[in-house]
Amino acid sequence: MSFYDRYLNTPGRKSRAALLLAILLVLGVNLIGELTMRIVRPSAPPPPPVVAKAPPAEVKPAPAPEPPVPPPPPAEVKPEPAPPPAPPPAPPKPAVTDTGRALPKAEPVKAPPPPPPPKAAPLPAPLSASAELAQRLKNGNAVNGAKLSPRCAACHGFDVGGRHRIGPNLYDIVGGAKASRQGFAYSAAMKGLGGQWDYDALDAYLASPANFAPGNKMAFPGVPDPAERADIILFLRNLSGAPKPLP
Ligand code: HEC
Repeated sequence: MSFYDRYLNTPGRKSRAALLLAILLVLGVNLIGELTMRIVRPSAPPPPPVVAKAPPAEVKPAPAPEPPVPPPPPAEVKPEPAPPPAPPPAPPKPAVTDTGRALPKAEPVKAPPPPPPPKAAPLPAPLSASAELAQRLKNGNAVNGAKLSPRCAACHGFDVGGRHRIGPNLYDIVGGAKASRQGFAYSAAMKGLGGQWDYDALDAYLASPANFAPGNKMAFPGVPDPAERADIILFLRNLSGAPKPLP
């Protein structure tokens, strides 16, 4: 007789078998539950870690390569096109990467400005003077003009900021606008002339004020001697902090 036969034939075997079945049932349920948990959870939890790690792993590697890759291309590629179209983009890149590269490119942009200065400093156009007058001025003598100036000083002052007398102050009159002295009441004839006192105009006015500007109120017959007029004009020209160029 085997062990099972004896066991099965012992009294109370049914209750023990029922207990055994109950135990097995409980264990089975637990086992199934455990398996179910492992099957269900493993699938759930693992995915998160895998998914979570996968993204970070991909994101981290990506950021690392991206910084190095973007900077070099933009710095090298944009600087070249930058000069013409985009000066603004250039500043941000120098700060991020190289300032040395950005500076040399910024200079070419600043290079254009230099040319303007030479243009912005043009010499004043020479005052109009006929060839004949130019020759007289070349042969003239400002010192002699000063000796002749008392003819004018009866009515004109020559000092910087000097008062007007019968006539307006004549400091810096050569090259100045006609009838433009502040505080002097010019005649309508004088105000209607317009333009500036260039060499030709002064020579003609001083030769005959009445003919040059009919109706003007300079009660002066004029200086008939051409050489004396040239000397007087040279004297007037020196009444300036920056005498105008001679013709
Ligand atoms: C008798 C007085 C008198 C004498 C002398 C005189 N002037 Fe005049 N001058 C005047 C008056 C007045 C005016 C203003 C004329 C007007 O507004 O119509 C004038 C105007 C001028 C102007 C124009 C000024 C301006 O602002 O546009 C010049 C230049 C000038 N005189 C030069 C001379 C010179 C140079 C002499 C000497 C050679 C001279 N004058 C002698 C009275 C005089």
